[in-house]
Amino acid sequence: MTGTRATWLSLGEGGTPLIRAPRLSEELGLELHLKCEHLNPTGSFKDRGMAVAVERAAGRGVQTVVCASTGNTAASAATYAARAGLRAVVLTPEGATAGAKRAQAHAAGAHVLEVRGTFDDALRLCRELGERDGFMLVNSLNPDRIDGQRSVVGEIIEQLGRAPDVIALPYGGGGNVSAVAAGCDEAAISPALVVGEAKERPTTFASAIRIAEPAHHERIERLVADGRLTVVPLSERELREAWSTLARVEGVFCEPASAAGVAALRTLGHTGTAVCIVTGHGLKDTGAVDASAATIVDASLDSVLEALA
Ligand code: F0G
Repeated sequence: MTGTRATWLSLGEGGTPLIRAPRLSEELGLELHLKCEHLNPTGSFKDRGMAVAVERAAGRGVQTVVCASTGNTAASAATYAARAGLRAVVLTPEGATAGAKRAQAHAAGAHVLEVRGTFDDALRLCRELGERDGFMLVNSLNPDRIDGQRSVVGEIIEQLGRAPDVIALPYGGGGNVSAVAAGCDEAAISPALVVGEAKERPTTFASAIRIAEPAHHERIERLVADGRLTVVPLSERELREAWSTLARVEGVFCEPASAAGVAALRTLGHTGTAVCIVTGHGLKDTGAVDASAATIVDASLDSVLEALA
């Protein structure tokens, strides 16, 4: 058993590549692999759990799924709801999410409400809305999300041919690390779990993890107390450097929050075999890339060569 998968509501989520990161491995002095969860159908790791949560919601006669989101959960909920024939209502903090993620939610026909407030305000509202008849919360507080998402661990073991010594990932609300811990329990393995969080949670440029009050903090604290998890607070510079290195050195273009696992490993200096979970696609948040260095040239070889000199 490697976690629950959706039966009829699938867009092909899961089965993502596990690739080696040879140059980062050399830098870090360990064998680093990247689990490419950004290659899921909507471009983020949310899809495994969302497929299961929306499928079960439909099975229970729910008409509307609701979520608060910094963008990726919204895109995923909207997409799976569309496919299941359900209505999706997604609440995002006004002006604080990447445009491509909102575009995904709109394209799938979701009701996108931008809240004058933070992600944490939006989540509070959604928890209330989710209590209403016909509504179901599909944030990771819904255990079906965790149930679907833990399948990533079994897949990693299968692809690696053994259990890794370390699994590293970002920490926003903590749903993903809760799911990974559940997946480890299920597979009876106990790798060191490492998560990177933004020191500047409420304002970080990594907008996916701009969350001041992590919903799963009690679970996280328990994992830390049990010696299973290390939480690494990261500066904006550390986050940015890890993100940029993944694209420039390994050719993996992810969104900024996705590099938090790599940034955390860089800080800690583990040895052995490590797997970093890459959580969201770089095309989700192109605004984070400084493209201002573009050079305009004449349509002549001279002009091109001059620009390269
Ligand atoms: N990476 C990305 C790309 C995310 O979108 C998120 C969370 C995380 C990491 C953190 O995962 O919350 O399970 O600890 N995104 C949520 C959203 C908050 O609304 O899309 P976590």
